[in-house]
Amino acid sequence: MRLVVAGASGTLGTHVVQAVRAAGHEPVSISRQAGIDLLSGSGLAEALRGASAVIDASATSSTSTKASIGFFTTVTRNLLAAERAAGVGHHVAISIIGAARVNANYYAGKAAQEAMLAAEPGGWSLLRTTQFHEFTRQLVGHGRLGPVQVVPRMRSQPIAAAEVAAELVATATGQPRGALPALAGPQEENMADLVRSYLAATAHRCPVIEVPLPGAWGRGMRDGSLLPPAGTRCGRQTFAAWLAGQTP
Ligand SMILES: NC(=O)c1ccc[n+]([C@@H]2O[C@H](COP(=O)([O-])OP(=O)(O)OC[C@H]3O[C@@H](n4cnc5c(N)ncnc54)[C@H](OP(=O)(O)O)[C@@H]3O)[C@@H](O)[C@H]2O)c1
Repeated sequence: MRLVVAGASGTLGTHVVQAVRAAGHEPVSISRQAGIDLLSGSGLAEALRGASAVIDASATSSTSTKASIGFFTTVTRNLLAAERAAGVGHHVAISIIGAARVNANYYAGKAAQEAMLAAEPGGWSLLRTTQFHEFTRQLVGHGRLGPVQVVPRMRSQPIAAAEVAAELVATATGQPRGALPALAGPQEENMADLVRSYLAATAHRCPVIEVPLPGAWGRGMRDGSLLPPAGTRCGRQTFAAWLAGQTP
């Protein structure tokens, strides 16, 4: 099967490409790095030719409400239109548990993406998960203030991106199923503690300051809105086990 991976060079996308290969299928990578732009649509038609499904693992690094809504709705609209034109019958998307409830900043874009898919008559599957273990690395990339690492006060039950990728690929090889049962990590953690452990394990130890972010966005992070409801399916790899596999 030819499976298109949008956002193939990203945190999740890299694992999706590996999972596509591991399952014996052929990945087609979409990213600006690969010369295809999901916002302008340039190169999309070509990339989707002969594909069976598209897995959308693209993301914006912006946390502004307007930019996030703009990114996720434009990308979804462009992908769905290109899929229709190319006869690709399955669009597989990922969102975040609680994003629609918080519906602010980055999460507003995810809520808008979910709403766009829900308005489609069919041909899509959507998996909601918690933050990835790799989110700690993404925070370290963004929250450095001189010698100090700033981390939002945040309750999370993170999951390994590799487990999410395997689930997305298994989904893409089947029939469209709409909203799938959500998937969370094995245990609740405190994000600042995870970042401290990540920095120590990767030999970048520095002071970590936990900051309550303002507005609905920050409130949603710290009040448990992003935690999985009781009974949510859980992945296997703990943060500690994932961290043990990271090289300094
Ligand atoms: N990170 C988490 O903890 C987490 C948790 C749950 C769900 N998710 C969801 O998982 C998805 C992937 O997140 P991520 O953290 O893996 O993202 P990421 O690491 O930031 O990767 C984003 C990817 O999108 C590509 N991209 C961005 N703009 C593009 C454009 N205009 N055209 C083509 N490609 C573009 C990037 O490549 P180029 O820059 O080369 O274009 C990159 O490959 C998102 O939907 C996110 O909301 C993430």
